[in-house]
Amino acid sequence: MLSETEAPVRGLADLPPVQSDSLLQLIALCGADPRPEKIDVGVGVFRDGEGRTPILNVIKEAEAILQQRQETKSYLGSSGDKRFAELLRPVLLGEHAGDPRIAGLQTPGGCGALRLGFELIASANPDARVLVGAPTWPNHPPIIRSVGLQMVEYPYYDRDSGRIRFDAMRTALEDARAGDVVLLHGCCHNPTGADLSDEQWGEIASICATRGLLPFVDIAYQGFGRGLEEDAAGLQAILSACDEVVIAQSCDKNFSVYRDRVGALFLKTASAEATARAMAHVFQRAREMWSMPPDHGAAAVRIVLDDLELKTRWLGELDTMRGRINSLRQRIAAADPRLGFIGSQFGMFSMLPLSREKVLELRDRHAIYMADSGRFNVVGMSDGQVDRFTAAVVDALQG
Ligand SMILES: Cc1ncc(COP(=O)(O)O)c(C=O)c1O
Repeated sequence: MLSETEAPVRGLADLPPVQSDSLLQLIALCGADPRPEKIDVGVGVFRDGEGRTPILNVIKEAEAILQQRQETKSYLGSSGDKRFAELLRPVLLGEHAGDPRIAGLQTPGGCGALRLGFELIASANPDARVLVGAPTWPNHPPIIRSVGLQMVEYPYYDRDSGRIRFDAMRTALEDARAGDVVLLHGCCHNPTGADLSDEQWGEIASICATRGLLPFVDIAYQGFGRGLEEDAAGLQAILSACDEVVIAQSCDKNFSVYRDRVGALFLKTASAEATARAMAHVFQRAREMWSMPPDHGAAAVRIVLDDLELKTRWLGELDTMRGRINSLRQRIAAADPRLGFIGSQFGMFSMLPLSREKVLELRDRHAIYMADSGRFNVVGMSDGQVDRFTAAVVDALQG
């Protein structure tokens, strides 16, 4: 029996309130706004000229094939669809695709890959610090903290000048401790759209190699920036220079299968043996967290990548998405010199130098919904909304 002095039992009702994810809150706020002219540039999904997020034709076809051919839904195991991960290798790793020191597995989206990668690092080296560029995607810090690793920010982008703070970034990495992890966005930086140049990637790769830092590359938008191959060039420079690399990949955007949760984690170590040992830990962690990833989306992506004709048509659909992103960027940049920087950035996001008050004013007065940080999704708006968006933003930048 409990003695009177024992602490009271705490139940589920004793949980403290949670600060809910600001981007999810924004989606809900926008959804509840009855104004028909509202512009949702908060959520991170691709939209076409009519403001829709369509299912790619090749995915529809692959799903039909899957339905026809699939004979069982029996368990696949912690690695998920092995052929899917194998087919991603040339797309993501390029000339490193055949490197036996690199192994990978299917994960529930890029988020699953990030969590699993950090779980592995926390098991291998709980004292590792994770160096994260500021600003970053708001889901990075909670994922890193959830595995108990310490996070340290390094300067990445100056919102007022619209430029990468490369000198400060380089200095911060040169001062890092051996064993520290450096989180890098492979392409289409979220939230700023400001990507490293090839030369800058080369410098970062060599700092990581010489200082014994572990690069962790998060690549969730391959093909949305300069091109499918070009967007993986930075990651491949890192692979050329470093013995140990962690990669979190997502197909959710470039195959437009967001809710199907399609991604992969890849690891490189100095030897095939060490990689196999690390992968055994990865499978164990995956088993503890989600046992095995959802099959459907990755199976559809696998069917596309495994068929030359479907793959070629996917590349065409990806080109169309990238073309829309880049033409909207040029159109917004041409509207006013203060928006010019948007034309030389990549991917779906850019960040406007607006105070929180101005962002809220845009929401109240113009029904324009963007993140409090000033991050907006370039392709969140339909073609018909672009002029109203740029006029309201230019007005806010002036005021
Ligand atoms: C930078 C970055 N990494 C990873 C992800 C994860 O994507 P998902 O889990 O939807 O595949 C996202 C999604 O928004 C992202 O922006």
